[in-house]
Amino acid sequence: MKQRENWTSNLGFILAAAGSAIGLGNIWRFPYVTGTNGGAAFLLIFLGAIILIGFPVIVAEISLGRSTEKNPVGAFKKIAPDTPWWVVGGLGVFTGFIILSYYSVVAGWSMSYIFKALNGFTPGTDFAALFGSHISGFGVPLFWHAVFMLITVLVIRAGVVGGIQKVAKTLMPVLFIILITLVIRAVTLPGAGEGLSFYLKPDFSKISIQTFTDAIAQAFFTLSLGMGAMITYGSYLSKNDNVSDNAVYIISFDTLIAILAGFAIFPAVFALGFSPSAGPGLVFITLPGVLAKMPLGSLFGFLFFLLLSISALTSAISLLEVVVAYVVDEKGWERKKAAQIIGFIIFLVGIPPILGYSSLSGFSFLGMDVLDTYDWFANNIFLPLGGLLTSIFAAYVWKAKNMMKEANSAPGKITLGKGYAFLLKYIAPTGIIIIMIFNIWTTFVG
Ligand code: PHE
Repeated sequence: MKQRENWTSNLGFILAAAGSAIGLGNIWRFPYVTGTNGGAAFLLIFLGAIILIGFPVIVAEISLGRSTEKNPVGAFKKIAPDTPWWVVGGLGVFTGFIILSYYSVVAGWSMSYIFKALNGFTPGTDFAALFGSHISGFGVPLFWHAVFMLITVLVIRAGVVGGIQKVAKTLMPVLFIILITLVIRAVTLPGAGEGLSFYLKPDFSKISIQTFTDAIAQAFFTLSLGMGAMITYGSYLSKNDNVSDNAVYIISFDTLIAILAGFAIFPAVFALGFSPSAGPGLVFITLPGVLAKMPLGSLFGFLFFLLLSISALTSAISLLEVVVAYVVDEKGWERKKAAQIIGFIIFLVGIPPILGYSSLSGFSFLGMDVLDTYDWFANNIFLPLGGLLTSIFAAYVWKAKNMMKEANSAPGKITLGKGYAFLLKYIAPTGIIIIMIFNIWTTFVG
């Protein structure tokens, strides 16, 4: 059998995994969730969720991948043969498929805004109307969705080292430099302080049970957990690299970028006299208004949407890789063919979310359009369920001690012990069950 490809260095793995983690969830979602959920108060709860739930789950996923050297389905099968546990891996593959289909649509909006920004946003434009007419068109969003999927497919076709690792090593530093540039510009604008205080001032009155569930859901999405991305990337990790140290680097990098994104956005929004809106409106409606009034706005707009698109690309790559690794390992497909065929099917599955703003605008699931419905199921059902079952599997089927032996097998700064086992066996599963019940309850019962 062909030797499985490995990242050529530990740094290659960290950048690829951080690339997966850092995405729309950091640059677009984290800032407004934090801003509207009590600022620094939310940040503290989010950090708690990352440490108590995110850390044990990401370590379990990477260990599962590295130990088995398999895609998510194969990984569960190898550790628990002749049991139905492989279904958890299958759920992950399915979730990757669904998330990528609408993620690519949003990434497509971002790519087309790169060009809108370059042409300059005209002051006085109704940017809400502009965004509305952009997404309710068909040809233009479809075109950019196709371009984005095509780029993703080309990267996956080129393989783990020649494609994924190379793109991550090239683009992650670019992403970081652009973000720092934008932060410096934003915080030095006269009047930036008000934005900083909106973003960071702890407002404990905004904290409710909902805040905790939002923090846990954000932790899952932002760390790419619960759907096998970290299992898959872990399967290409060398036995000489330490799992827990790497997990800490990925988590720190992801959190740093999310926090910085808020520093790039809110000071600018307030300095130019806008008030922050939640949801997609923040970057696609409020920000163009800000850029229209800002000196060199087209340059900074170009940089911002480029940043958003790059972050989306390195995440999309990991989503497609999960599905491709599955058909390559389990069904014996050739990688290039797998990337093309699966990429095309995902492109098709992404068409209903586009149409949800035009011919399918009559569609409503609990008041949500098609794109939000895909997103709701992914975030509230599939990712937490996948994470829950993965942690139960690692703790009780594979057994925490075997999992920890894998994680600890290469020397590193962190050696997992009893405290970790406690998080994995009790804290993570309980936390996830609580948020799932709460989310389903608030959605369906009221
Ligand atoms: N972590 C990515 C983000 O924050 C999204 C993602 C989720 C990517 C699950 C892969 C798997 O945008």
